[in-house]
Amino acid sequence: MFITENRLKKIYEILKKRQKNLQVFTDNVKNQHNFSAILRTCDAVGVLYLYYRFLGHGELINEEITMGSHKWVIHKEVSNIDKFFQKKKEEGFQIVATYLSEDSINFREIDYTKPTLIVVGNEVQGVSKEVLKYADKQIIIPMYGMAQSLNVSVATGVILYEAQRQREEKGLYNKPSLSEEEIQKIIKKWSTEDVIKQKKKESAMRRFLSS
Ligand SMILES: C[S@@+](CC[C@H](N)C(=O)[O-])C[C@H]1O[C@@H](n2cnc3c(N)ncnc32)[C@H](O)[C@@H]1O
Repeated sequence: MFITENRLKKIYEILKKRQKNLQVFTDNVKNQHNFSAILRTCDAVGVLYLYYRFLGHGELINEEITMGSHKWVIHKEVSNIDKFFQKKKEEGFQIVATYLSEDSINFREIDYTKPTLIVVGNEVQGVSKEVLKYADKQIIIPMYGMAQSLNVSVATGVILYEAQRQREEKGLYNKPSLSEEEIQKIIKKWSTEDVIKQKKKESAMRRFLSS
């Protein structure tokens, strides 16, 4: 079984729009629905790298919620927080952490066209102190209701779409941030994984029909 020409074309087109230097880190987001919704939004906005720390158990991805989008966003678990954030700083990323405090700045004041790592936090505790100490900026989405905070996947979406708006305005979706070599490498990996998944699906279906 091979991947179709059209599918390859589609993968190539999305990779040309992927924003290599707009990244997301989820600090112990534990709810499967939330994490999966974040993944799906990352795909929609053109985020290529989603990093996460997960201190829970079980599966973090629900494919009924990602609708397959988890295949097109590189998601990596981070085990060493200090090493990870130091490396991001060395790479020139501004670390923008969500923090529910009066001292935090409005999320729209950030220039997301710069290399940016957006940090969102756990459903109950928010972003941990261990991670917060690496933040260059602390941001908040203004709240005018009775509830103190938004659902984390909604908050991530709101921030990412502001980043997308700024990046569109600057024309960053019109010139690939990945080199042709990087694109080809990812296509090779993704198309192989895609075929394997398809095969698994088909054999599961065959098993089901013959049972
Ligand atoms: C339900 S909130 C956590 C609430 C927690 N009690 C706190 O004080 O951070 C989960 C995550 O959603 C994001 N979030 C929710 N509402 C937000 C807001 N108004 N501004 C920025 N981020 C928000 C943040 O990433 C936060 O860590």
